[in-house]
Amino acid sequence: MSLKTSISRLARPEIVAMKPYSSARSEAPGEGVLLNANESPWSLLPDCRLNRYPEPQPELLISRLAKLYRVGPEQLLVTRGSDEGIDLLTRVFCRAGEDAIVQCTPAFGMYRIAALTQGADIISIPRLVEENFNMDTGKLLETIETDTRIKLVFLTTPNNPTGDSIDKGVLLEILEAANGKALVVVDEAYAEFSTKDSFSPLVSEYNNLVVLRTLSKAWAGAGLRCGTVIAQHEVIALLGRIIAPYPLATPVVELAERLLDPEILTLQQRLLKALTTNKQRLLRMLEAQGYITDIWPGDANFILIRLHDAAGLMRHCSNNNVTLRAFNSEPLLQGCIRISVGSDSDLDALENALTTWKTA
Ligand SMILES: Cc1ncc(COP(=O)(O)O)c(C=O)c1O
Repeated sequence: MSLKTSISRLARPEIVAMKPYSSARSEAPGEGVLLNANESPWSLLPDCRLNRYPEPQPELLISRLAKLYRVGPEQLLVTRGSDEGIDLLTRVFCRAGEDAIVQCTPAFGMYRIAALTQGADIISIPRLVEENFNMDTGKLLETIETDTRIKLVFLTTPNNPTGDSIDKGVLLEILEAANGKALVVVDEAYAEFSTKDSFSPLVSEYNNLVVLRTLSKAWAGAGLRCGTVIAQHEVIALLGRIIAPYPLATPVVELAERLLDPEILTLQQRLLKALTTNKQRLLRMLEAQGYITDIWPGDANFILIRLHDAAGLMRHCSNNNVTLRAFNSEPLLQGCIRISVGSDSDLDALENALTTWKTA
């Protein structure tokens, strides 16, 4: 059996069999006399081509993302944030009531939501709290090998909200264990904050590897909703069968292309440096508070802490107009708070709240 066949065999048969929708813009380029899409011939906003449907997968944006992530343009799908990538993968690969995803909890909440929405089962393997919240790799490998329902293995590096990263050796073991059985989805939403290399070059070698990237975090573009799925073309083509005909709005495409202009790169690198400096300040600030019992600095743009009265600190910060994130429904994160690295003035406000708490 060829590797090519094996990936399509993992997908839902009805998705493989269906004839996908063919949009007007995918059938013909948006140039010349356009009388094929029931669009308005006039634009009400002359500086924006809002009257025309956008390119389904915009060529310039794709080529800039391919260069940024060092993969081929045919290995990319641009989506409305990584959230949409997670959703598409789950809908293409999981049959309702039959298949399952596996995640290592605490994990990013959208893997669970995507699985629930699709009717897929969710297998959660608790992380090892005493070992820096690392994944229980042994348990994960055993589960992949024994549970034939698993179609997607969701991994996150650095992980949200624990900040720990995955070693290449561990990923290779997981890819081998999942070969022919499941896709391994490595969510690299926070990769730029880490000194570790991205796993995206491995996509050419492993047909069951999918890497998710986003402009939401290190590219300061959360408002854009622009994410990228990176995988071999067979996977990209399967996802392309069910993605909305025009996922990215024209203004989003224009702004994303501007954001990835080579001139902005210097500015983005400067932001990343400032963030590293501010993270060090945040860490020192947290270490100075005697009431914080545990600190997990992690490799991303946030720090996880634990204390006895997390609810009290959350309330005090909120009263001081500082919003943090607690995880009340996650058993392993009782008493934990995640704090994003902010600007200098954000950290001034946080410092004031942290130091006035017990005396308030
Ligand atoms: C691990 C992880 N993946 C994906 C996302 C969603 O990213 P996007 O904004 O690209 O949808 C987040 C958002 O916080 C995240 O933490």
